Amino acid sequence: MCGIIGYLGNKNCLNVIIDGLERLEYRGYDSAGIAYNKDGKVEIIKEKGKIANLKSKLDFKIESNLGIGHTRWATHGQPNNINSHPHKVGKITIVHNGIIENYVELKKELEELGYKFKSDTDTEVACALLDHIYSETNSMEQTMAIFKDKAKGAYALGILCDDHMHHLYAVKKDSPLIIAIGDKEKYIASDVPAILKYTNKYIILDDGEFAKLNPEKVIVYDNNIEIIKKEIHTFEGNASSMDKNGYEHYMLKEINEEAEVIKATTLPYIEDGIDSLIKNIPNLTRFNKIEIIACGSAMHAGLIGKTLIEEYANIPVNVELASEYRYKKLFLDKKSLVIVISQSGETADTLAALKIAKAHGAYTLGIINVVGSSIARYSDHVLYTKAGSEIAVATTKAYSTQVAMLGLIALNLAYHNKTMTKDEINEVISEIRKLPTNIQSVLNEQLEYRKIAKKLYKHNDIFFIGRNVDYALAMEGSLKLKEISYINSQGYAAGELKHGTISLIDKGTPVFAIVTEKAIADKTISNIKECKARGADITFIVSEDLDVKDDFYNQKIVIPTNHKTIQSVLTVIPLQLIAYEIAKLRKCDIDKPKNLAKSVTVE
Ligand code: F6R
Repeated sequence: MCGIIGYLGNKNCLNVIIDGLERLEYRGYDSAGIAYNKDGKVEIIKEKGKIANLKSKLDFKIESNLGIGHTRWATHGQPNNINSHPHKVGKITIVHNGIIENYVELKKELEELGYKFKSDTDTEVACALLDHIYSETNSMEQTMAIFKDKAKGAYALGILCDDHMHHLYAVKKDSPLIIAIGDKEKYIASDVPAILKYTNKYIILDDGEFAKLNPEKVIVYDNNIEIIKKEIHTFEGNASSMDKNGYEHYMLKEINEEAEVIKATTLPYIEDGIDSLIKNIPNLTRFNKIEIIACGSAMHAGLIGKTLIEEYANIPVNVELASEYRYKKLFLDKKSLVIVISQSGETADTLAALKIAKAHGAYTLGIINVVGSSIARYSDHVLYTKAGSEIAVATTKAYSTQVAMLGLIALNLAYHNKTMTKDEINEVISEIRKLPTNIQSVLNEQLEYRKIAKKLYKHNDIFFIGRNVDYALAMEGSLKLKEISYINSQGYAAGELKHGTISLIDKGTPVFAIVTEKAIADKTISNIKECKARGADITFIVSEDLDVKDDFYNQKIVIPTNHKTIQSVLTVIPLQLIAYEIAKLRKCDIDKPKNLAKSVTVE
């Protein structure tokens, strides 16, 4: 969480920094700030709320070629002007993404040395620590090296020093940071989109590395303060792919991109039928155990992956929340495969779980969207989803590509395990080819979904039920709704309601009931009838082959029937669009829901 950017070169840094912060706002948006060089001195301006508030406080006529900026997702202390970044202590000014875990002890030590603190933040402590080390060493290189030894936790820091107002410094551990390279100008940023308008060349700073930048060059140091040579990457997309392209919200744009991104993700594995599937996914049958680890929607995708792998390849799979996995007893060894799923590739819990799995000797496979992200770099092997940039905080298109990728992995395992014949696999592949057209036909029903949203948007409790894959979809539909509309919602296993939760169903309570699995359709329909008997308002979401005319539902959404691998990619679309339409009717900030951030880089 939090987005940081820094610039030095020949442009007006205020424009570059505000522009970059706007592109990083998805990382956090409860306050923002900027520090820049004003006639050799550091000037700091911060403002509570979104970047627009900060922007209104700036005088863009000021000429300044060096500055750092920050958009915050509060971790320590309320989102007010005092706690906002940048922080300045003595000669040092910083912006920070991450958490300094030992800040309480450090604060005590620094207070004993005479430092006084104004804010509640760990960042101000990090700033004071840097200032203290600098006062003793008089060298920024030494300062950053010593800081790394003393500070525990995660940090990506952009640093200015009063004595060197022609340099920008950066240091990183466990929080993402890139250094971008323009002609006689350099940038630091949490993520590539922040700088794409100016350059697509960048260096990824690795954990423990730090850097000194001037407009002409970037010097990167390793742990031993030795200068190291870094690879320069070229980003393949462009800044315009991050615009709304006429859509009212990024979320709507991203849902509408699902056909195209599913095609981009699956094509390399299906274009020559089964041959591409075998060639481009490694044979993973040497493992005797599979665990899938992820957070939030990525974990929901993992639940669908579990069913597909178990059913196609006959291999048992455990799915775990990364935040829980970190602290439980693990039964992993060299014969274990751990699949981690992450859109951002930076989620702190998932990254930590991945590191633990590796430390236990497991082989790790990442299903990742952001190329070169931390999780991608730590994984032993990566299968990239091709969802492109996802800006809306609520994931939609990336989730769908994760499900599709898990389906491909399941088919690959089934081939090697001989649990499906070549013909059966090729049949599924030909269904996957039809997916973009099917997605489009589901998207075309948006007006129908809007009608349902209009009927339900004033309710304060909404349930989603289903069994098996439909249960995983129910959890995803519920998460989508609650995170962007702030309606209390539960995704529930249809058969479990009667064990307690059904007491919450009253006359008119909205229940979305999902039925796309033939083998259990009748069972779920019985559970729907139990809800209906208690007065629930049922939205029946059903695949075409299981459609029934009956009076146990109030409204119905029929989804084209497809193979199990891809049925869920189709079924999730109305859930995403209804959540979107409800949030819009409730006048919520759809792309930036309150209290959230796109990239969750804290524990
Ligand atoms: C919900 C959502 C989150 C993410 C979760 C993991 O709409 O977006 O639940 O799925 O924070 O994020 P990644 O996939 O970046 O690891």
